[in-house]
Amino acid sequence: MSNTASSAHVPVLLQPVIEGLNATSHPDGLYVDGTVGAGGHASAVFEAAPQSRLLGFDRDPRSLSIARETLSRFGDRVALVHANYNTMGTVAPGHGFASVDGILLDLGISSMHVDEAERGFAFRTDGPLDMRFDPTSGDPTAADLVNTMDAQELADIIYQFGEERDSRRIARAIVAARPLSTTRQLADVIEKAHRGPREKIHPATRTFQALRLAVNDELGALGQTLPQAISLLRPGGRLAVISFHSLEDRIVKQYFRDESTDCHCPPQQPICTCGHHASIALVNRKPIVADDAEIAANPRSRSAKLRVAEKLFQQPEL
Ligand SMILES: C[S@@+](CC[C@H](N)C(=O)[O-])C[C@H]1O[C@@H](n2cnc3c(N)ncnc32)[C@H](O)[C@@H]1O
Repeated sequence: MSNTASSAHVPVLLQPVIEGLNATSHPDGLYVDGTVGAGGHASAVFEAAPQSRLLGFDRDPRSLSIARETLSRFGDRVALVHANYNTMGTVAPGHGFASVDGILLDLGISSMHVDEAERGFAFRTDGPLDMRFDPTSGDPTAADLVNTMDAQELADIIYQFGEERDSRRIARAIVAARPLSTTRQLADVIEKAHRGPREKIHPATRTFQALRLAVNDELGALGQTLPQAISLLRPGGRLAVISFHSLEDRIVKQYFRDESTDCHCPPQQPICTCGHHASIALVNRKPIVADDAEIAANPRSRSAKLRVAEKLFQQPEL
């Protein structure tokens, strides 16, 4: 892995993340970075909290090797694990991170994934249709999905995870054109199947997003991780999540809303029977987004949304 790739990934919303995690107030805190990537946010946590320790997760062995290099200057304050962040509830305590001050999830792909054609995430360059964060996993690739699913299953994935209105037409075109083995082949099929007016985004954007989310079960992992993250936090600890599209943001928004309210009984019910107590407070009601200067410097930040929640102290039972 070259340093070019690591310097190419610019962490988004860096200052708001550090403020959201309250890192300067906990200089010797324990932090978990579920998506350590190139280590940009993690480095900023170490700089803001000079005696802190951080456990970094990444599913991608290549991202981890960049992080290892970037974070080597922080010595044994950093520990890195090659694992899905949806295992943090059991993996983090095993590394001494059982009650932590801050957790970050910076979701999705890094610039390195898009820049390296052989990873198969990009439709503008030609590479094998892979799209797995962890190419060592033996899990099905994007090629496996497009070449084996029937048109209905493919259309469902493209609609559900890509919010693509033309999903059925695209799925039929894929089935008619297979076998497909490269990103350009797939992008060409989608481009030809595309109807309607020209849009700002490439016609393959939504289908590629859908396949990537399906291949890596990204939304499933996010939903499984949020409760684990909250239970790992010490009271007063913060969870910061950066999402890049509405499907991810909806999961975070809904979870934060549910967990920051006490009773979930229907409003017409006079007495609470569910017994639910809020476990978090929202730090920001509206998501924090990049300002014009950040968007100009780093176009990837355009769609980023940061939500932060704080773990509440245990409510005494009445
Ligand atoms: C947007 S990048 C993070 C960049 C990082 N914050 C930085 O400053 O360099 C997202 C990273 O999360 C990893 N990733 C995505 N889903 C994951 C999962 N479920 N478990 C662990 N890592 C994941 C990707 O491989 C990628 O390296």
